[in-house]
Amino acid sequence: MTADGAAADLVAALKAYLEELRESGVDGLPWVPAQEIAAVPAKAGAGGDVPAAVANEAAADGESLDRIRGDLGACQRCALGATRTNLVFGVGNPRARIVFVGEAPGRDEDLQGEPFVGEAGQLLNRIITRMGLKREDVYICNVLKCRPPGNRNPEPAEMEQCGPFMLRQVKAIAPEAIVTLGTFATQALLGTKAPISKLRGKFHDYHGIPLMPTFHPSFLLHNKKDTSKFWNVWDDMVQVLKKLAMAVPDVKRKD
Ligand code: URA
Repeated sequence: MTADGAAADLVAALKAYLEELRESGVDGLPWVPAQEIAAVPAKAGAGGDVPAAVANEAAADGESLDRIRGDLGACQRCALGATRTNLVFGVGNPRARIVFVGEAPGRDEDLQGEPFVGEAGQLLNRIITRMGLKREDVYICNVLKCRPPGNRNPEPAEMEQCGPFMLRQVKAIAPEAIVTLGTFATQALLGTKAPISKLRGKFHDYHGIPLMPTFHPSFLLHNKKDTSKFWNVWDDMVQVLKKLAMAVPDVKRKD
């Protein structure tokens, strides 16, 4: 084959590939610097080699949070695009060992474009601090990137559009543990209708990554008098710290 023929073949193959991407919902390809395509270092930890395998998979196809954010663009894939103020992508360490996943942005998050910045977010920050970590150490995102009006429950069509982006975020970060906050996020990731009270307290599997469901900080705020729920969350976080062979701070129980 001539050089011209080979070039024409390459262009045709590229065109077909881009067409395939467009059909699967990718509407833009941001520039990815070469150093981001370089291998993501595998993370050691009690989680074993499964997260490392996930990390290598993300590295192999050049996946990165920037690229995922670029693919979302000014998203209008579902009706929430028309009513949001800001798309709330996620915040924190792109190499976090722990990823927290909530339900959807609320009013404060919609206004500020950052997850968990309202009252529930303040409580989540306290939980993270109690774990001996900083908010910047972990990664925080939601299943839905846009606020459902009036904080109504997310609808299946919204989940269907947004869920794959959350999965890509998780795969790009390749954490050693995921913590789902509350019923909705837990049921969405685990594909179950079982109640959070039955799911929390034990590890589940999410694409090879250990997933610990726990109560949503808003639920704790609404049940302030029932301190046992707070301690349930703490016990869940202790399990996560132990799984990752991280130090467990000594927290005294008064009740
Ligand atoms: N609740 C959530 O589930 N996510 C947020 O970002 C804020 C509140």
